[in-house]
Amino acid sequence: MSVHREKHEGYRVPFVDPREHYRRLKSEIDAALSDALVNGDLVLRQQLRDFEAHIAEFVGVRYAVGVNSCYHALHFSLLAAGVGPGDEVITVAHTFVATISSIVHAGATPVLVDVRDDFNMDPDCLAEAVTPRTKAIIPVHLNGRVCDMAAIEEVASRHGLAIIEDAAQALGADYRGRRAGSLGLAGCFSFYPFKSLGGLGDGGAVTTNDPGVARMATLLRFNGEDRETGEFHYHGYTALLDNIQAAVLDVKLRHLPDWITHRRRIAWQYSDLLRGVGDLVLPPFDGEGYTDSFQNYVIRTGRRHALREYFQINGVETLAHWTKPIWQHSGLGIDRVRLPVTERLCQEVISLPMSAETTPEHVDIIGDVIRRFFA
Ligand SMILES: Cc1ncc(COP(=O)(O)O)c(C=O)c1O
Repeated sequence: MSVHREKHEGYRVPFVDPREHYRRLKSEIDAALSDALVNGDLVLRQQLRDFEAHIAEFVGVRYAVGVNSCYHALHFSLLAAGVGPGDEVITVAHTFVATISSIVHAGATPVLVDVRDDFNMDPDCLAEAVTPRTKAIIPVHLNGRVCDMAAIEEVASRHGLAIIEDAAQALGADYRGRRAGSLGLAGCFSFYPFKSLGGLGDGGAVTTNDPGVARMATLLRFNGEDRETGEFHYHGYTALLDNIQAAVLDVKLRHLPDWITHRRRIAWQYSDLLRGVGDLVLPPFDGEGYTDSFQNYVIRTGRRHALREYFQINGVETLAHWTKPIWQHSGLGIDRVRLPVTERLCQEVISLPMSAETTPEHVDIIGDVIRRFFA
């Protein structure tokens, strides 16, 4: 989810709290920034290599390549998978637009399928959408929960398709003992400031066990140049993860396991408080083979508009992702599709505050507001 227009001020319970986040980490972040600046470490220096090694280890893959966004991670992974004009790539409509734009900018055609009630790709819809032109699948692990990868892998291997994981929202989520981002040809992450691991601006990474994918992403992010030889191998992009971002992300990565534990506790508390209240449908929580990392806590209600207004009046900041099916944005030129679950989610979803700074007291306030609303 992209949280692009937050208003953190003036809420009893803000959706995110970047000032409090910085206050807690100030000494560590300031030291990392100062170290990089004093040494002039701005582009492709040790901090980037360190962060890449640490994030690769965290995800459980051989390589991580830092780029400036998950968008570019997706785009480069598609190019590395050989996706181009004439190809189709299957993904979900219930995702942030960047997933789909990366397919369009690779020259391929996005084929959008429906999700299940857990917000993730429906493998049956995937299987039905495969054609002779299908080249790759982008499962999107939404809200910090991995897709049903056994079923998706089965379709992929039956048809010889590459899997590129959109793991922008799933850093640290597990599926059958494997981490999001280690389950396909490539994993794509976002370090946008309000992600579970967020930088001071945009950032992302490609994770992979495939040396060819890692090399191509490494070349494409730096205008196609092999830094060792000076040879330009492709018309590339200017899409590096800035060294200074890597330095800050490396500091924060050390805290990530604790933050994920915290998010899971907050999710438990929400689920305990909200179970059986009104017509609320609560998000899935773990289950066989799944350990969810709760980038977001998304509830559903048929009274979405009224409940969000009531939250607003009561000083609780919420978001709704997404309120309009992607194909209804006419500027995107996406053919109309009929995806009933996606359409229903667009009318029902509300994201509740969920971050490392969300406290049990915040959740109690939200629980009270919701119970009063439905009383
Ligand atoms: C599911 C998903 N995919 C892709 C992206 C794009 O990430 P970035 O903003 O780093 O390009 C996001 C960001 O919000 C996302 O939530």
